[in-house]
Amino acid sequence: MPTAPLPANPDAGAGPQHVAIIMDGNGRWAKARGLPRVAGHRRGADAVRRVVRGAGELGIPVLTLFAFSTENWTRPADEVADLMGLLRHYLRSELDELRKNGARLRVIGKREGLAADIVRDIAEAEGTTASNTRIDVNICINYGARDEILRATRRLAQRVAAGEITSDSIDQASFESELLTAGLPDPDLLIRTSGEQRISNFLLWQCAYSELVFVDTLWPDFGKDHLEHAIVEFRRRERRYGGIGK
Ligand code: IPE
Ligand code: IPE
Ligand code: MG
Repeated sequence: MPTAPLPANPDAGAGPQHVAIIMDGNGRWAKARGLPRVAGHRRGADAVRRVVRGAGELGIPVLTLFAFSTENWTRPADEVADLMGLLRHYLRSELDELRKNGARLRVIGKREGLAADIVRDIAEAEGTTASNTRIDVNICINYGARDEILRATRRLAQRVAAGEITSDSIDQASFESELLTAGLPDPDLLIRTSGEQRISNFLLWQCAYSELVFVDTLWPDFGKDHLEHAIVEFRRRERRYGGIGK
């Protein structure tokens, strides 16, 4: 049975407008099958395709996926190379699929540290999909929230030193405007797969009031039905934002 699109308005019991996912468990998926970790990452890329399509069908306006953290550089060099190779492949091979899904792709994270050809492919993919309006797909690559917050702080300090702003004028809105997610709504729902229950330096500022859903499914097995389940769980929650609720 086709699923009705989610309502556009995040009233109580509706939404979410923005779903963020920590895609975890590729290595364990491969290990359980006696396969090299890269096989898990490959299947993880297939799951990205499924979930982007599923999120579009469910009417989710913004989807943000954590693909590679600033800490993931500490993995063995061959695994990092495999992940960068898959990223290259994804950026080149998924443009058609993204277009078909009406997806606007943005890559969130530090460009420094990424190979020059990947930086070019990112710009190309972002440019080619820029006018798509059905769903915003953000992929976090070389992203770390502490790093992001430090850079925003540094940038604001520089603007104070240059006399452009006063320190007293710094507020939540001006701070947010220096984050890599400037202009995006905060995630309403944060999903982490693979049974781990931690944030691992993802969107620390932006997830202040996100509803957290942890699922045991390993990322390569995750699909539209899992996403729907997480959304059902999200809609059961009462968001209070420090108030006393209904
Ligand atoms: C998620 O899967 C992908 C990345 C973090 C790049 P993992 O590679 O972390 O898989 P596990 O946690 O070892 O199973
Ligand atoms: C978080 O997963 C980062 C991504 C999904 C890209 P990790 O597998 O790196 O997190 P830890 O090491 O278990 O906290
Ligand atoms: Mg992991």
